[in-house]
Amino acid sequence: MSENSQGHIPVMMQEVLAALPEETEKTPGIANGQKVVVDMTFGGGGYSRAFLEQTDFTVLGLDRDPAAIARGEALQSAFPNRLKLVETCFSGIDSALVKADICSEEQMNAGKVVDAVVMDLGVSSFQLDEADRGFSFMHNGPLDMRMSRSGPSAADLVAEASEEELARIFWTYGEEKASRKIARALVTARKDMPFTETKQLADAVESVKPRRPKDRIHPATQVFQALRIAVNNELGEIEMAIATAAKLLKPGGALIIVSFHSLEDRIVKQMFADMADKKSHVNKYRPEQEDFKDGYVLPFKGVKAPTSAESSSNPRARSAKMRVLKRKKERVAA
Ligand SMILES: C[S@@+](CC[C@H](N)C(=O)[O-])C[C@H]1O[C@@H](n2cnc3c(N)ncnc32)[C@H](O)[C@@H]1O
Repeated sequence: MSENSQGHIPVMMQEVLAALPEETEKTPGIANGQKVVVDMTFGGGGYSRAFLEQTDFTVLGLDRDPAAIARGEALQSAFPNRLKLVETCFSGIDSALVKADICSEEQMNAGKVVDAVVMDLGVSSFQLDEADRGFSFMHNGPLDMRMSRSGPSAADLVAEASEEELARIFWTYGEEKASRKIARALVTARKDMPFTETKQLADAVESVKPRRPKDRIHPATQVFQALRIAVNNELGEIEMAIATAAKLLKPGGALIIVSFHSLEDRIVKQMFADMADKKSHVNKYRPEQEDFKDGYVLPFKGVKAPTSAESSSNPRARSAKMRVLKRKKERVAA
């Protein structure tokens, strides 16, 4: 796939389209009887555009980034009756369905209202390429990294977290082996000068973890990934989104997730396995919600990966993994 005019190349688009359910149970009074797919990560609108152009689904596009929602207005005017956009984080999926008039609050609470939910995790090329968003050390900019542009930024985190907390973040979310050494260096350096820019942070990391000739990635890559995950509570959001989305699926509906690193994929794999396990029906991730006794299945084992052609034309696709969870059509006795 070549770079499109939207600046973000959708990853595994054909595989995602093929995973959409053909047939689900019809629910009168929901989205005027139309099939609904929730694009939880609208981003550059690449997935939503394909759903609108290549299927007959009504699309609800969500994104916590106000810039993504604003960019989606052009697509919305091309499909005024089939695309609805709501600015929210994953945890707001249920209220977004009501806000977008897909279903009533009672229907949302009862679940089984949408045919498919799709998540394409991480950041978009728009976010990475805009220096003022502060996601990348490739472009100098403010040390921000907030997808939603609200709440504490990466600069706040680096300024306020203790050395132990920074080391924990770098280790847990970046799998960074030099986590303690880097945290110590940052805490010492911030006494003289606060970290406010991406390049300043990248240089500080590189000074304690010099680049070796065999390194394929910049020494600050894992620290940047870790801070981004922490600032946006990305892993907590994924857990909550999976638990809620599964309940919202109609019988026959599909939850389709494309992830890009092992921490994300581990959560998806574990939660899908728990839900598809016939012995365990309790929603341990959101115990306040109804249990999963209707039953879920994994339509294929393991993950689907991009084709080698896609990986060579779009480097961002190389680490992509797609997993799918389907809600069973028949009701299973509890
Ligand atoms: C990889 S991009 C999606 C690209 C999109 N599929 C496309 O084809 O253009 C991920 C998007 O998801 C959004 N996002 C990530 N985590 C989110 C969350 N917890 N809640 C809402 N949006 C989120 C980001 O702001 C970003 O715009």
